This record gives sequence, structure tokens and C-alpha cells, in this order.
Amino acid sequence: MLKGLKMYKLEEMNDISATDLNKSFSNYINSPLSSIYKMLGLDHFDYSYAIGSYIYLKNGDKILDFTSSCGALNLGHNHPEIKKAEEFCLQNDIVEMLKFGNNKLQAMLANNIAEILPDNLDISFFAVSGAEANEAALKLAKRAQPSYKKFYVRTTGSFHGKTHGILPFTESENFNTGFHVGVNPDNVLTIPFNDINALKNLIKKYTDDGDNKIIALMVEPLQGQEICSAEHGYLRQITEVCQNNNILTIFDEIKVGLGRTGKLFTFLHEANCVPDILTFSKSLGGGRRAISAMTTSSKLFKKSYGKKLHSTLHSTTFGGIGSSCAVAIKTLEIITREDFMSDSNNNSDYLYDKLAGLAKMFPRDIIEIRGQGFYRGLQIRFPHKKMTDINLPYANKFEIACMGSIVRELFREYNILTFFTGAAPDVLHIMPPINTTKSEIDYFINSLTDLFEKNIYILLKKFIKGTIL
Ligand SMILES: Cc1ncc(COP(=O)(O)O)c(C=O)c1O
Repeated sequence: MLKGLKMYKLEEMNDISATDLNKSFSNYINSPLSSIYKMLGLDHFDYSYAIGSYIYLKNGDKILDFTSSCGALNLGHNHPEIKKAEEFCLQNDIVEMLKFGNNKLQAMLANNIAEILPDNLDISFFAVSGAEANEAALKLAKRAQPSYKKFYVRTTGSFHGKTHGILPFTESENFNTGFHVGVNPDNVLTIPFNDINALKNLIKKYTDDGDNKIIALMVEPLQGQEICSAEHGYLRQITEVCQNNNILTIFDEIKVGLGRTGKLFTFLHEANCVPDILTFSKSLGGGRRAISAMTTSSKLFKKSYGKKLHSTLHSTTFGGIGSSCAVAIKTLEIITREDFMSDSNNNSDYLYDKLAGLAKMFPRDIIEIRGQGFYRGLQIRFPHKKMTDINLPYANKFEIACMGSIVRELFREYNILTFFTGAAPDVLHIMPPINTTKSEIDYFINSLTDLFEKNIYILLKKFIKGTIL
């Protein structure tokens, strides 16, 4: 029965060569993804450990990680206080799992979340992933609304997760094509992001005899796939219009919550703007734990699950495991400390100023700086495909190859890890830990300056030569 593979021992972790790692990842996890990593030069990523903004290689070099693992590392890698919180759990043999009886660490975490959020957001449900938190939000919304309502609204470019249940709400990159489970996709209506009139018109269209048929609208206050910020006033208008029409609002801050955009949550940038349901995750785990939260009002929770009979209608075994809650409690403590956000904002302003300086230096290459706070995107102008003699085997992926060449160059020549998405391949995502330093920002900007002084066309040629030919 056995395949005769070498069985790794945990303690051998740092003995595995980059070549063996490539092989195991490719053979036993995801071969096409592994080949994309190879194109981006990440097959040379022979890492050993990580602290703060850096991942350390076995050869002694360090990589500046400006991806924050897509938002999970607001506090950087292995924050000492987060490790201490975990040590506290180990030393005290905490009750990690308790399904029967009031769960202490969950209750403490939910209490603290209620304290830091506006008045009517005070009941939390914990799960493991962002998609699960969003599914919990949809289920709660469905139960709270009258049965004649059957439609939901999403926005163009949205990303809310990839599980079957949430996929109909993810519009970006056609991730949902071919998967028709959960909410019937015909009942998920799409409006352009940042267009309040589109929402008003949609409500009119779906209203009969004075009652509209819409259960809820789900939206990211800053869209992560293409890094699109909500225009000032848009989020408040959404909550107003929805409230006036008995439609529930679900704000998904899974990627950008907990300080990334300059406030604890992005929606707090607007006055008088509170959603009915808020979902957040990623950084709640302090960079070491998988935990997500769906927070709503007592009123709404009562409507959906207020009876004893209904109290277990929604649950999940590993949601809110003890040490994950402990880490989340510590994460909130750190982020809500007096100077934490002001220091972070000071540095994110510094990053913005430096990026603006870069855009001035290279007006031909940089089209736009996107985003807010410490989630920035640099939209880059690539050479026109027709103007090059480059004949890619994947011609329609020209922009992906261009951005791939930049991400690869940043990694291979400057030891910086960055990323981009297929939804907007001309946008370089810049997502450092929100406690990054000015000197890390300086290194990043100096490296980008050096890179833009090179010709992107030459980089592209190098990329193609190194990866395909
Ligand atoms: C805005 C947003 N919502 C939901 C999710 C899904 O979270 P998860 O991957 O933990 O399921 C993501 C993941 O990137 C996200 O960025």
C-alpha cells in the first residue's frame, strides 16, 4: 500500500532543499501553481524562518515580505507578543476545545470586539476562514428577512471567498464559473462598485407592491482584487439606502480590517456608517492563527437565532479554538494601543509620499497609486504588446508576463516579495506589515527606483528567456 516516499520528520524542516520542496509542492499540492512560482523566481525561495517584515533564507540573506500574506500579517511574522500569548496558552494548559458550556476565551474575545466596534455591532460568531464568516453572514441575513425576499446584491470586482457557499458572491476573475451551489447565482444581482444610483435603480426594479425582494448587499469597503477604494460617501450612502429599504448590509473587511487602511476598520473612515453585519479575519489571527469573525447586532441575531431551538442552527467545530481566541485578544490589544495606529499612519503617509515621488520620477511607467493606508497598488504602464517583438505562447496574458517580470526582478535582484492578481495584472500590490519601519520603506522605494531605471521591456525579455524559452 505504501508508495515508498520518504516520510519527513518535523525536525527535518530546514534540511529540505528548495528542489525537494518544489517537488513535494508540485507533486502533492498543486503542480500548475508550483510552475507559476517557478516563473516568478520563487523556486529559489530557500527559506528557514521569519521575523517581522523579513523571511530569512538558509544562506543568511533576508527577503523583505511586502505581501503580508494577503492581509494576514498586519503585525508581521512571529510578533513577540503573539508568541507570548501562545506560550501563555501552553503554560496554562488552557481549554483549547469546549463545545459544551460557555467558552471562556470566545466570550472574552467577543466582549472585546463589542467594545471596539460601534454600538450596534455586539454579537460575534467565530469560524476559521474568511469564506466561512461570509457564509455565516449570508445565513444570518437570510433568516432575519421575510421569506418573500430572495435576492442578494454584490458589486463588480468583488472577492468574498472561494468555497461553494460564497462563490456566487465573488465576481472577480470568473472564479465562480461552473460552480452553482449555495445561493442560486440567478438570485445574486451585480451592481457596479461605487455607483449608488445603480443600487437605487436595482431596488426599484426589484420592488413589487412597495416591498423589495432583496435580502442583503455584500461589499468590500476597499476592494482587494484590483485595489479599488470606496469613493468618499459611498459606504454611508449604501447603509442609508439599504436601511431605508429594509436591505441588510454586509461589509467584508476580511482582507483590510484591523488597521490596514488607517483605522481599525475601513468603514470607520465615514461618519454615520455602520453595517448590519461585519466580517473580518486574516490579521485577527496575529499572523499565526486561523480565525475569522462575523459580528452583528443583538437585534439581528435575535431575529435569526433568538430561540433556544435555533441557537445551534449555525456552528462549526473549530471556530474559536482557545489559543486562536487568545491570539486574537492579544492582536486587538496591540492594535488598539494608544500610539499604534498613529505610528502606523505616520509610516503609511511616508510610504504614500515616497510612492508619489516615484510616480513623478517615472510618469511614463506609473499610471496611478491606488488604495489606502498600508494597502497600496502601483498601476504600471507596460510597453504595448504590438510594439514589442515578443511572441508569448500565452498571448492574451501579456500583462501578466509584464507584471511577472517585475515581481520576479524584485524578488531575485532586490530580495523583496510582492504580488499581483489576475483581476488587474497591471497593479503591483504593496502590502507591508502595518508596523513596518521607515527604513524598510526606504529600501523598498530605492529598489523600485532602481528597477524603474531599467527598461521594463528588457525585464520582460529576461523573464521570458528565464521562464519559457
Ligand atoms: C475580501 C475577502 N473576503 C473573503 C476572503 C476569503 O477568505 P478565506 O481565504 O480565508 O476564505 C478573502 C480572501 O482573500 C478576501 O480577501
